[in-house]
Amino acid sequence: MKHLISIYDLSAEQINNIFNLSKTLKSQQKEGLEHHHLKGKTLGMIFTKSSTRTRISFEAGMYQLGGSALFLSSSDIHLGRGETIKDTAKVLSRYLDGIMIRTYKHSDVEELAKHADIPVINGLTDLMHPCQALADIFTMIEVKGSLKGRKLAYIGDGNNVANSLIHICTKLGIDISIATPKGYECNSMVIHESFKEANISGSKVTITQSVQEAVSNSDVVYTDTWVSMGQEDEKEERIQIFSPYKVTKDVMSMAKPDAVFMHCLPAYREYEVSEEVIDGPQSVVLDQAENRLHVQKAVMTLLINPQPLPCFQ
Ligand code: CP
Ligand code: NVA
Repeated sequence: MKHLISIYDLSAEQINNIFNLSKTLKSQQKEGLEHHHLKGKTLGMIFTKSSTRTRISFEAGMYQLGGSALFLSSSDIHLGRGETIKDTAKVLSRYLDGIMIRTYKHSDVEELAKHADIPVINGLTDLMHPCQALADIFTMIEVKGSLKGRKLAYIGDGNNVANSLIHICTKLGIDISIATPKGYECNSMVIHESFKEANISGSKVTITQSVQEAVSNSDVVYTDTWVSMGQEDEKEERIQIFSPYKVTKDVMSMAKPDAVFMHCLPAYREYEVSEEVIDGPQSVVLDQAENRLHVQKAVMTLLINPQPLPCFQ
């Protein structure tokens, strides 16, 4: 594992290694045990989009690991005014031990990774959100125990979060059904890759426009905003198109009785999800948000300091 750009690049074994280390780091953090595996290391965090969870969990995570993190707004560094990605990658590699980037074009992250001599972590692009998907499935394991025979239903926009969820579910043998309006399906390359993975892992993949079909018999009902960052101009049109895809109590009742509700946040109450669902007893959205911290600490440790540390054995 050299970078984390897409879940598709990881094997099931690598994902499980991340989860094992996440569990260790989470309990060390809760018990107040020092775990300075990245002492003296520095992470640069390039942002061309807003963030609450990603920025804060990476920054706090680096601090807890004994290192430090630099917030690099693209409007403050020369990347935002025309310095090439290649030069940025080469220069940052001389100062830093890792780069996390959140931006629009997925190809920009691939380009950064191609030229960087240090690990690059995708903190969200228009196409993918791998750190979120890792934290989500780690949360699903915590809540549901074994993943065997589990089904995740994603309802709404076939966006970056949905793309990374279909990647990770098919890597790990979790059944996944995605209900989107026509024209808002997941990325076709991601679907193709996921069907290939499903043949190996045994996941059942369902792509549908029917909420009822997707949610039926599911263990997790997941949704995300209908208007992702960069789509603000389409807001009114999207609200009309997506309104039948709102997750309500009625939708939750189509899932298994002990199903949980997930959302990557930020959430827009009474658009993609009703207040009573997101703030109700089935919701695990805050666990997901917390687990971003623990899972990303594991990812950073494995990428930046992959020596087998005694506490991981
Ligand atoms: N879920 C997520 O990535 O949140 P932020 O946009 O706040 O980082
Ligand atoms: N799909 C959302 C996720 C935010 C974490 C967006 O890209 O804005």
